Amino acid sequence: MTAKQPPVLEVEHLSIGFESDSGILSVVEDISFSLNSGETLALVGESGCGKSLTALAMLQLLPPFGKVLSGSIKLHGKELVGLADSSMEAIRGNQISMIFQEPMSALNPVFTVGQQVAEPLILHKDMSPSEAYQRAIEMLEAVGIPDPISRANNYPHQLSGGMRQRVMIAIALACEPDILIADEPTTALDVTIQAQILDLMHDLQEKFGTSILFISHDFGVVSRMADEIAVMYAGRVIEQGTATDVLVEPKHPYTTALLNTTPRIDISVDRLPAIPGRVPTPAERPQGCCFAPRCSLASDICSSERPMSIQLTDSHSAACYEVGHG
Ligand SMILES: Nc1ncnc2c1ncn2[C@@H]1O[C@H](COP(=O)(O)OP(=O)(O)OP(=O)(O)O)[C@@H](O)[C@H]1O
Ligand SMILES: [Mg+2]
Repeated sequence: MTAKQPPVLEVEHLSIGFESDSGILSVVEDISFSLNSGETLALVGESGCGKSLTALAMLQLLPPFGKVLSGSIKLHGKELVGLADSSMEAIRGNQISMIFQEPMSALNPVFTVGQQVAEPLILHKDMSPSEAYQRAIEMLEAVGIPDPISRANNYPHQLSGGMRQRVMIAIALACEPDILIADEPTTALDVTIQAQILDLMHDLQEKFGTSILFISHDFGVVSRMADEIAVMYAGRVIEQGTATDVLVEPKHPYTTALLNTTPRIDISVDRLPAIPGRVPTPAERPQGCCFAPRCSLASDICSSERPMSIQLTDSHSAACYEVGHG
């Protein structure tokens, strides 16, 4: 029997807000999750739920005026909140890497892709430029770029969207990080290319043993990737569990509603249902459950008091008055 390894990343009671003239606006509130070695945790939720801010907080790359208000982010047990910039720089791109939805904005147009894959290896792994370039070509091959020796000489604009995303993955994985954060990595790609990139991430995860924090608004994509799922709504995690818990036995009405809006391959429908209403902005959040105004099951208590998260099984929790009370 092997003992379960401690989580690679542990986030506890994390809150994120923005400073403004009228005070601090809290945006992400009291979220906790942990990412296990070699596993994928997906953060799912509609636009504006705070998924990207949560991801950026892991790297201390919050936008101006954004800050971690409270809580803790531990990488292998070491606290990252409040860590000096110089220490964070040694972690970014080395122990924790990130890929984004639109690779063109993250790639530098004036350097070849070979140079850009080599850069983190020179910076973090003390490789000489020629050693790093050689390794960059191997990485381009590993992410499925055909003819990597000549492709390494290309500039980003000479590649297709799918190939650029492969280059981003090569850059992100060059230093063999413990954690890859992927923020909507395939949203800008067409469905076939999207499937190829997801398969590639899966294969590379097995090869390098990487843990992935995978961010998406799309349960269809998440169901292909996730071991664990945290569903976010209006800055909070409202349901959390293994992929099976959340996909097969969703408990929170928001999770169920979001799953109902996800296209299924086995059922053909003319039009998918949309969840009526919209996510409240941070300034508009009601006193009670933020989903109550859109929830068909809401009762009086839902609009007056915010529900606490209830542990339903060892792995599954949800914050809703409708669950866990019989
Ligand atoms: N720079 C900023 N200044 C002030 N508020 C911000 C800023 N960036 C984000 N926010 C607020 O934080 C909320 C969450 O933003 P975030 O980008 O994390 O959402 P998301 O879940 O990633 O959405 P999407 O699916 O659209 O990418 C936004 O709705 C917005 O109200
Ligand atoms: Mg986002």
